[in-house]
Amino acid sequence: MALRKVTDDILYLGADDNRLALFENVYPLPNGVTYNSYLVLDEQTVLMDTVDRAAGDIFFRSLKEGLNGRALDYVVVHHMEPDHAGTLNDLLALYPDAKVVMTKKAQAMFGQFFDADISARVIPAAEGSTLSTGRHTFTFLTAPMVHWPEVMVSFDSESGILFSADAFGTFGSLHGALFADEIDFERDFLAEARRYYCNIVGKYGTPVQTLLKKAAALDIKTICPLHGPVWRKDLDRLVGLYDGWSKYQPEDRDVVLFVGSVYGHTEEAAQALGKALAERGVKNVRLYDVAKTHVSTLLAEAFRAKVAVFAASTYNNGIFTPMEGLLLDLKAHDWQKRSFALIENGSWAPNAGKLMAELLGSMKNLTQLGPTLTLKSALKPAQLPDIDALADQICAALSTDEAEG
Ligand code: FEO
Repeated sequence: MALRKVTDDILYLGADDNRLALFENVYPLPNGVTYNSYLVLDEQTVLMDTVDRAAGDIFFRSLKEGLNGRALDYVVVHHMEPDHAGTLNDLLALYPDAKVVMTKKAQAMFGQFFDADISARVIPAAEGSTLSTGRHTFTFLTAPMVHWPEVMVSFDSESGILFSADAFGTFGSLHGALFADEIDFERDFLAEARRYYCNIVGKYGTPVQTLLKKAAALDIKTICPLHGPVWRKDLDRLVGLYDGWSKYQPEDRDVVLFVGSVYGHTEEAAQALGKALAERGVKNVRLYDVAKTHVSTLLAEAFRAKVAVFAASTYNNGIFTPMEGLLLDLKAHDWQKRSFALIENGSWAPNAGKLMAELLGSMKNLTQLGPTLTLKSALKPAQLPDIDALADQICAALSTDEAEG
């Protein structure tokens, strides 16, 4: 099959995976995912990463086709996670003369994953070290914790390509497209790019900021990530999204209602708040049932919106467990710089509000709007003024900029 070209001498060897149900065995993939690899056909040949074992067959066929009888001189390993390095040991066995460019931490991880001694083949990559292969010179920049500690990126000064590892990647298969300008990114990929970022890299905002500062010093013309499309246009849009996400800035002045409701009474109160917000001119309020929506989507929505409302029943004297799971996931991903409001319900001993407040209080830069609204089984007409008061406070928070620093 004809291989797509990134440039005249750089081929795309990646593949869609439309069969995997759960990325990392946890994140649903309704639109699939790609594992990207790139082959540089310079005076010496360079392979940028391998792929997940699921795409191994097509990858090795593509590599053979791309090399067209030439030797493979180098493989550059940007990341040792098995979605990229799962076929690395097989590759090194098939191409025994190829040298391996990797960080020391990546080399140590190789030894953890595989029983093979590659020490004689490794060219250690350190911050700022380079590899020249003829026309191309690659500069290696470490990017620890974007998304694992051994990660590095490469910048090719000849083409202006940044091989960015997991950074700037997204969930979603490409269906033959290669470049972001060949797809409708805003319509079809933005939500999945956000879900990918928040869940995979979201905890590591500071390391992402460090990488963005390094990248800002380079004359980058194209970004080649390990998942999703290659970016050769509108790089500012992509980098801007990453900048905002990694600073934990709300992307939209929106309100998201996260609801954990056992029989619907808690949801009814959240719906009443949604109506009060709409009457005050707040658009695009979204309500998610936390028991029915995957937590990775909820997390991404919490990153996107400016105000989150958590409405939950008390359950076993604790927080209704799907809501507790969401809050723990938000904490694990260092979600911060937001305002939130709380609604609790309990027919005899409402306790979810106190526990949710404690959990959120253990996180950074979060501000509770108003007092927790307590339902005893169901919202009563006498509580509608409390709903209105909460809506007023949410409107006020939406119009401030203080949470966006
Ligand atoms: Fe796509 Fe962290 O691996």
